[in-house]
Amino acid sequence: MSEDKLTISKIRDGTVIDHIAAGKGLIIPHILGMNVDSEDIFTVLVNAQSSHMGKKDIVKIQNRELKEKELNLVALIASDATINIIKNFKVTDKRKVVLPKHIEGLLKCLNSSCITNNDPEATTSFDVVSRAPLVLQCSYCSIDMNELEILNQLSGK
Ligand code: CTP
Ligand code: ZN
Repeated sequence: MSEDKLTISKIRDGTVIDHIAAGKGLIIPHILGMNVDSEDIFTVLVNAQSSHMGKKDIVKIQNRELKEKELNLVALIASDATINIIKNFKVTDKRKVVLPKHIEGLLKCLNSSCITNNDPEATTSFDVVSRAPLVLQCSYCSIDMNELEILNQLSGK
C-alpha cells in the first residue's frame, strides 16, 4: 500500500457508494438528506486513489439501504457509481446505478410559467435527452436543464 493512501474502516451493515467521480462525493449526503439532524452515520472519502479512475470519492452510510428514488438521485450526480450493500461486513449486492429515462418528482422546472410551478397538484417530470453531458428536458414545457443547473438545484444553491 502506498504511504499516501488513506484507508477508512469497513462498515458492518449499510451502503457503500463507490466510484463517484472525484469532487461529487460531498454533495451526496446533502441530496440524501443526511446531516447532523438525520442522525445517519456516514463518511465521505474525497480523492481516494483508484486504479481505474485516478481519483474517486466514496460515501459509506451505516445501517441504511438506499431506496429506488434515492438511487436515482445518486445516478443524477454520479452516473458511474457502484452501490454496494453490506451485511455483516460482507458485500451482499453490488450494482451500478442506472439513470432512468424519466425523472419524476425530484427536481423543479426552471421555467416559472411551467404548469409544474403553478399547479400545486402537478408532479414534475423530465426526460433524459442526453447522458454525457447530462441534459434533462421538462416533459411539460420542454425547457432544458443542464448538469450545472441540476447540481445547483440539488445542492440548494
Ligand atoms: N466496504 C466497506 N465495508 C465492508 C465491505 C466493503 O466499506 N464491510 C467497501 C470497500 O472499502 C469498497 C466497497 O465497499 O470501497 C466495495 O467493496 P469490495 O467489493 O470488497 O471492493 P472491490 O472488489 O474493490 O470493489 P469493485 O470491484 O466494485 O471496485
Ligand atoms: Zn417545465
